[in-house]
Amino acid sequence: MYKIAWLPGDGIGVEVMNATRLVLDALKFDAEYIRADIGWEYWRSEGEALPQRTLEILKSSQCALFGAITSKPKEEADAELDPSLRGKGLVYRSPIVRLRQMFNLYVNLRPCKAYRGNPLNYRDDIDLVVFRENTEGLYAGVEFHPLPDDVRRALEANSPAMRAFNDVGSSDIAFSARIITRRGAERIVRRAFEYAQKHGRKNVTLVEKPNVLRETSGLMTRVGRAVASDFPGIELWEANVDAIMMWLVKNPQQYGVIATSNLFGDVVSDLCAQLVGGLGFAASGNLGDKFAVFEPTHGSAPKHAGQNKANPLATILAAKMMLEWLGENKLAARIENAIAAVIAEGKARTYDMGGKNTTMEMAEAVAGKI
Ligand code: NAI
Ligand code: MG
Repeated sequence: MYKIAWLPGDGIGVEVMNATRLVLDALKFDAEYIRADIGWEYWRSEGEALPQRTLEILKSSQCALFGAITSKPKEEADAELDPSLRGKGLVYRSPIVRLRQMFNLYVNLRPCKAYRGNPLNYRDDIDLVVFRENTEGLYAGVEFHPLPDDVRRALEANSPAMRAFNDVGSSDIAFSARIITRRGAERIVRRAFEYAQKHGRKNVTLVEKPNVLRETSGLMTRVGRAVASDFPGIELWEANVDAIMMWLVKNPQQYGVIATSNLFGDVVSDLCAQLVGGLGFAASGNLGDKFAVFEPTHGSAPKHAGQNKANPLATILAAKMMLEWLGENKLAARIENAIAAVIAEGKARTYDMGGKNTTMEMAEAVAGKI
């Protein structure tokens, strides 16, 4: 029996997770689901959106399925804290970003597949996956505003390009470091090539911008080429991040596997998600070597919370990815086929697909096919 950490979170996160459970139960997936607290409610009441007890549950599970959480900017976060907790220097930090770093979930895998009959498809022949680096790059969290004097002096001593800012005071400079390590570059590109090999894909597209970001994108590109040489049957395509935005709109069907750094992957995968139906269909896996967290890409959608109308397919697809990661390929294929059948049939459609069915009705339709 598998042990799965079950993290509904906030808003529609709770609803799409309940809906997904219906599908997993229809499969008779042999698992114990251990419900764990995460999200805004726990920030407000305890000053901690990711309580220690949740970390303990995660550590004793094989992987986690996560719904969605609410996050708010600093001022609002402080204002909503329980009065007894205010003024204690508590700082809200995104639990999902922390989970990625804490468990070294360095791959963010985002499949974008057009299911035939989905009225939201941009084209019906899109089937690609994005491998987004998940722990470093511009999201490393090394940021300053104002720019500390010693950091400024070190930058000025080492980079002539800093001269362009000689006339700007440190309090008027915001600075975010884009950190790419050889290790980080190597493992994201290698996982993408391994995936291509396993799934019979003929190429991997490395999305960077080495002509301008000479050092960080440069390192990704050099490492990418070296990794590619270990996979003679698979071609390495290189694309600049700006250009691929146009190509993905023009010819998305030509792409199979995309590998890229953190921020670029965030942007590219949102574009790709919209090509195949948007947030109601976008699932992602945060994968490490030993642990993984699967989730719909969307947030808690407060506007729709409590209305039983959100599309649960993104979360059901996340559950499918989870089954694949656990090696339960037959069960995963049954979810895949059930979703494909429900969409092709076109009877069950949530509001985003132009229909009137509820979250639960959509899940019941999928469970029914199973
Ligand atoms: P959101 O993803 O929650 O919703 C944006 C809009 O997308 C919704 O209003 C709705 O029109 C549509 N949508 C989202 N999920 C849908 C679904 N399953 N079915 C149908 N339509 C769907 O993004 P928003 O409104 O910017 O953020 C709301 C909260 O969620 C914020 O507090 C934000 O910080 C948080 N958030 C959390 C994420 C996470 O838990 N991983 C990711 C993104 C946002
Ligand atoms: Mg995003």
